Amino acid sequence: MTSKPSVWVSRPTFPDVVARLEPHFHVSAEPEETKFTSAELAAKLAGCDAAIVGLKERVGATELAAAKRLRIVANLAVGYDNLDLAALGAAGIAASNTADVLNESVADYAWALLLGASRRMGAAERWLRAGKWHATEFKGWLGTDVRGRTLGILGMGRIGQAIARRAQGFGMPVLYHNRSRLPEATERECRASYVGKATLLRESDCIMLVLPLTPETRHAIGAAELAQMKSTAVLVNVARGGIVDDAALAAALREGRLAAAGLDVFEGEPRVHPDLLALDNVLLSPHIASATTDTRRAMTSVAVDNVLAFFGHGPHAGHPPN
Ligand code: DGY
Repeated sequence: MTSKPSVWVSRPTFPDVVARLEPHFHVSAEPEETKFTSAELAAKLAGCDAAIVGLKERVGATELAAAKRLRIVANLAVGYDNLDLAALGAAGIAASNTADVLNESVADYAWALLLGASRRMGAAERWLRAGKWHATEFKGWLGTDVRGRTLGILGMGRIGQAIARRAQGFGMPVLYHNRSRLPEATERECRASYVGKATLLRESDCIMLVLPLTPETRHAIGAAELAQMKSTAVLVNVARGGIVDDAALAAALREGRLAAAGLDVFEGEPRVHPDLLALDNVLLSPHIASATTDTRRAMTSVAVDNVLAFFGHGPHAGHPPN
């Protein structure tokens, strides 16, 4: 009798979903969130045939060196900048992500950050909790309306498109910039106009970043790009931290060259740049744009389905990056 292959799940997920692997695999799931060192991760990967990992597992040649049985790494995220696809490819190991199932939750959250940052919700809540609310001021806590303003979306994949569709409810014209232009029918459905990056930065009142992090997009928003934006603009990042130069962003916010920002992701997270922490005109959250129960369950399900399918136990559920 041949023994079952084994799957390692790097973090607590949804046990009933992961249990779908059990008829076909030995499953070992981490009971708590752990930040593995490179050597610990290498040892875990060396002991399994499939791994379901999260963004904090950075899988490259070093971590794969002893992974002689490993055949697939299923990422519990749509972004996969934590995976070195070249190293995985060279080792003949497949990779998959969790495309699509998180689009709507992330789009909702991007809007929450835009509205929260525009209406100063973070600072107002901190002020109230600090017991400073003694009288309601007619001209206190004035924010900015988003209605009717121009929304610029940098990165117009499925999440960008879900964000654009929501703009119709706020009566906001949408500009977008993307590696490639969308088909006309999609542009019509999203009521979005394709423009160059410089035009988008110059003309938008609200800018949302929804780009993947690649060597080409690293610091796509740095000092030069911030200088092109309106001083009244609000910037939202639900993509990846490295896309924005956080020090340059903090300087622009501090000096009034940008009105506000809503950030879910940071360079070098979970560390957050101290200059950002010191500012009141930025709304910060710990990389939770996809964190709803339904969406995190769906992401787990896609990763499980991808492993099952890879071993011939069902159709693929996601769009594997390689
Ligand atoms: C993703 O899926 O890439 C998100 O950033 C994780 O929540």
